[in-house]
Amino acid sequence: MVRVEEVSKVYRGRGGAVEALRGVSLEFSEGSFTALVGRSGCGKTTLLRLIAGLERESGGRIVRSVPRRQVGYVFQEPRLMPWLSVAENVRFAARAGGPAGDFGDADGILRTLGLADFARCLPHELSGGMAQRVALGRTLFCRPRLILMDEPFGALDWFTRRTLQADLLRLWREGGRTIVFVTHDIDEALTLAERVVVLREGRFAGTFGVDGELSAEARMELRERILAAIELGDAGSGVALPFFEGASRPRHEGGRS
Ligand SMILES: Nc1ncnc2c1ncn2[C@@H]1O[C@H](COP(=O)(O)OP(=O)(O)O)[C@@H](O)[C@H]1O
Ligand SMILES: [Mg+2]
Repeated sequence: MVRVEEVSKVYRGRGGAVEALRGVSLEFSEGSFTALVGRSGCGKTTLLRLIAGLERESGGRIVRSVPRRQVGYVFQEPRLMPWLSVAENVRFAARAGGPAGDFGDADGILRTLGLADFARCLPHELSGGMAQRVALGRTLFCRPRLILMDEPFGALDWFTRRTLQADLLRLWREGGRTIVFVTHDIDEALTLAERVVVLREGRFAGTFGVDGELSAEARMELRERILAAIELGDAGSGVALPFFEGASRPRHEGGRS
């Protein structure tokens, strides 16, 4: 679905050049659910924007087999139109002049996301979780085959987060959608994704498969390995903090899965 080949990205601004990504190679297969994790500033948003075609790579290339209009993007904030109702926000793409007839069933989406009773509400009448659900509905309305999500639940409280995670998993299990989900929350990554990819300082730093039936112990161990990749990088180089002594080193499972 998407192949990222030796991609680098340099931003040139007043503060000089910033190398946000360097030599990153990854593949996202059709129907997969990948979580992208790493510290703030490691290049997660940059990679997502490059995949979306919102930004141009400085080196390497990105091969995407889906047309741009079938790529949906969900931001951390809902970014709803305050003067439009919930239903109108979901149908916003139709108003914005997208290709006719290429949209989902707005009423069905509202029902699936538990928003049917709020269809006529305005955004300011909604809780944060509901607003973010509307944002997700607006993205689904365009029938995306590839959904790119940038810390979409980051601003929500724990309970709301759990509910939305369950909603998202349900949607993904219906099939036909490939998801790339950015989060800095390892537990969220493990709850949602089949695969966790770690970026560190703009470089690929490991990929970890997530078995759906992880025991509590295996989950803890995986969590620690991912944390080590985030902190120390793929090779586990750098000075190991006492905290990591005895922790298993991240296993490189290949960037081109
Ligand atoms: N438009 C931009 N102009 C200049 N530098 C940028 C721009 N966007 C991101 N950066 C820089 O690129 C690096 C990666 O940023 P980003 O992709 O937003 O990281 P993350 O999403 O992982 O926090 C950071 O050092 C950031 O300051
Ligand atoms: Mg970001």
